Order: sequence, then structure tokens, then C-alpha cells
Amino acid sequence: MAFPQQRLRRTRRTSALRGLVRETRPSPQDFIYPIFVVAGEDVRRPVDSMPGIFQLSINHAVAEAKRAYDLGIPGVLLFGIPADKDEAASGAYDPEGIVQLATRAIKDSMPDLLVVTDVCLCEYMSHGHCGVVEKDTGYILNDVSLELLARTASSQAEAGADIVAPSDMMDGRVAAIRADLDREGFEETPIMAYAAKYASAFYGPFREAAESAPSFGDRRSYQMDPANAREALVEAGLDVEEGADIVMVKPALPYLDVLRRVRETTDLPLAAYNVSGEYSMVKAAAQNGWLDEERAVLEALTGIKRAGADIIITYHAPDAARWLSG
Ligand code: PBG
Repeated sequence: MAFPQQRLRRTRRTSALRGLVRETRPSPQDFIYPIFVVAGEDVRRPVDSMPGIFQLSINHAVAEAKRAYDLGIPGVLLFGIPADKDEAASGAYDPEGIVQLATRAIKDSMPDLLVVTDVCLCEYMSHGHCGVVEKDTGYILNDVSLELLARTASSQAEAGADIVAPSDMMDGRVAAIRADLDREGFEETPIMAYAAKYASAFYGPFREAAESAPSFGDRRSYQMDPANAREALVEAGLDVEEGADIVMVKPALPYLDVLRRVRETTDLPLAAYNVSGEYSMVKAAAQNGWLDEERAVLEALTGIKRAGADIIITYHAPDAARWLSG
């Protein structure tokens, strides 16, 4: 008898047997595809740092959402780039704001596609921060920001958003958004909370795409220190207590341990955000012929799922969906 006793020897596994004993299978159904919607007519502007990603006016955003839908992707995540920014982020909660209009247009043409809306202020603030800034000190005013975030979420729900996703990291925003949604008659609208959102260099390309780079300082006063994992459990616990329906860890790949630990502390659906920098790194290397894009992307997505994610927000979604079904 052979020793050690391993009858499923890797050297003897056929493709069918490998498939039979495979533990983790990412599927198009796991994905949410982020889309950047920009004000204006017939705009399709490439984002230089994210090859394959564009700022899209509403007509093109609807077409891109349709492409995702046809590939079996259940949802899109909308970020808005408004025509004008100010110091009250008015565009974020304008009933005729860019995300509200895009949500209506996408829901009109594809009622079954889930529209998830980003709830944040940075894209709408002239200074690019995720909250209201106190003039003299430059401090972010947590509680003042909550009111604007809550109004933003309710206006998105009013426009037809299926899920609202606060990405700002102000304390208490899940409770504030929940209360406002309930008061406005959107008791059934779920909240996907960015529970553990780290202050990450990997958001760099996103800030070009969303035109949301802060004009002074950085986001370290409200986003988490990459060194802290236990704190992520505290943050996730608070969001769950405040009424989150889905919790998220972001970015994904440098934080798979955090993802796993959050997975072990909640039975709610768990999302991971495979962020812009993670996308762009693979794209850049692939364009140089330094790695095989399809294999690298599917390996990364498999790793994120293996670590415990139920939902993966990824710019690779359409390509990955094609590869997985092809
Ligand atoms: C806005 C927001 C950011 C991302 C999602 N929502 C950027 C940031 O915090 O600066 C990053 C997403 C990505 O990098 O793909 N608060």
C-alpha cells in the first residue's frame, strides 16, 4: 500500500476530479460591478489609471449596467461625479442629483438588476472630504455630516435604490441612515455598511475616477489604521448593532485576515471590496505581459471568496463573469 495514504493524489487528478473536490467557486452571482456616472450628455471618458473603466453619462451607464446584467451579474454600485461641488455636498442629496437620475434610468430599463448606491459626500464636496469640514480647524464634523449622509441615503432610496452603501466611515452613520430611511417610508431598504474601511493607498485610482481626492490633508482621521484588525471587529459589531444588513471589509487583498475574522463574528452577509488599486495593479502588469490577467484575476477572486466573502465588489466583474462562464 502506498504511503502516505492519499488516494486523491494531485498527480492523478484529472480535470473532472479537480472540479469534484474544488472547495471554492467564485460565480458571476457573487459580484457587484461599480460604475462611475458623470453629469453631461453622451460622455464616455476613460479613467487613465484604470484601463477599461470609464466615467459614463447616464445613457452609457445604462448600457454598461445592461452589459453586466446580461453577463449574470446581479448588481451595480453607483458612484456619482456631479457637475458642481460645494461645501455642503448638495449634489449628494439632490433629488435630481446624478446618482438619483442614474438610479431611475437603470431601474426603468432593468427592474431586476440591483442598484446599490454609494452614500458618501467626498465626490460632492469642493474640498473632497467625506464629511463636513470645520472652517477654522480643518476637523471633520462627525455629527453634522450624519444629517447629510442620511438625507443622501433617503433620496437614493426614493429614486429606487435597492441597497444603500455608506462608505464615509463617520461614527453612527448606520443608525442615522436607518432612522431616516424608516421615517421616510423606506423600512425595507437594506444598508450595506463599509464596516471596516482602511485608510489605504489602494484607493488612489478611484480618486481619479471619482474626482474625489481631498484638497488638503488625508482621510486618516475617519478611515481605519491598516495595522488594526481587532478594531475591525469592533466597527463591524457597532454597524450590526446600528442596523447594518450586510457588512463590508475594504480593501480586500491586503485584508483577507480581517475578512476571515469578521466572517467568524457575524452571520450576516459579508462583502469585500476589491478596490481600484488592486484592479489597476493587475491591469498594469497584464498590459506589460508580466502576468496572465485571467488567471491572476480569478485567483484573486477565489482567494477573497475563500477568506469568507459572500459578495465581491470588483471592477473585474464583467471580464471575470465572461471567463467563468466561458
Ligand atoms: C469614498 C469611497 C472611496 C472608495 C469607495 N468609496 C475612496 C476613498 O475613501 O477615498 C474607494 C474605492 C476604490 O478604490 O475602488 N468614500
